[in-house]
Amino acid sequence: MKHEKRKVLIIYASIHKGNTKRIAERMGSVLGARVVSFQDAKKEDIENADLIGFGSGVYLSKFHKGLINLVEALPEMGKKKAFLFSTSGMRRNIILNRSHEHFKKLLREKNFEVVGEFDCLGYDTYGPLKYIGGINKGRPNEKDLNDARKFAESLF
Ligand SMILES: Cc1cc2nc3c(=O)[nH]c(=O)nc-3n(C[C@H](O)[C@H](O)[C@H](O)COP(=O)(O)O)c2cc1C
Repeated sequence: MKHEKRKVLIIYASIHKGNTKRIAERMGSVLGARVVSFQDAKKEDIENADLIGFGSGVYLSKFHKGLINLVEALPEMGKKKAFLFSTSGMRRNIILNRSHEHFKKLLREKNFEVVGEFDCLGYDTYGPLKYIGGINKGRPNEKDLNDARKFAESLF
């Protein structure tokens, strides 16, 4: 399918600092996608899209509950293409952050075809971190946003 015609929808959850929203918007501009928060995502929009990106901050080692609930409530997706992305205080796959594995499993249970995934660090002042000014200040930075752009381009 020619990408000009392909309908791309990006759904994000970004409740802490807007870190994931910034990544979502950068990917969205590359893909010509509609970019919506999970509260505004409608089932029909998902059904009408050819490729769907799901992005979230990592909260207690998982994607946002609202995004998880959204996917759980979907019907079977008949191999519709999807990708996932996240921002987190700590690198993925260390310190219990199995968020991608968990969310990918959910997507596959709904018969999405997972075509890519992306993650980067995000500014984090959760809990006691606020007393030290947080970690990863300034992230996502220009390099992260550029990596997100390259990732999105690779999906064509
Ligand atoms: C309630 C809460 C829980 C968090 N739990 C984790 C976690 O388990 N692992 C991690 O690496 N980062 C954790 N973080 C940090 C966020 O993943 C990080 O700041 C992320 O970039 C936030 O994205 P957002 O600004 O799009 O919401 C947590 C942040 C909050 C507010």
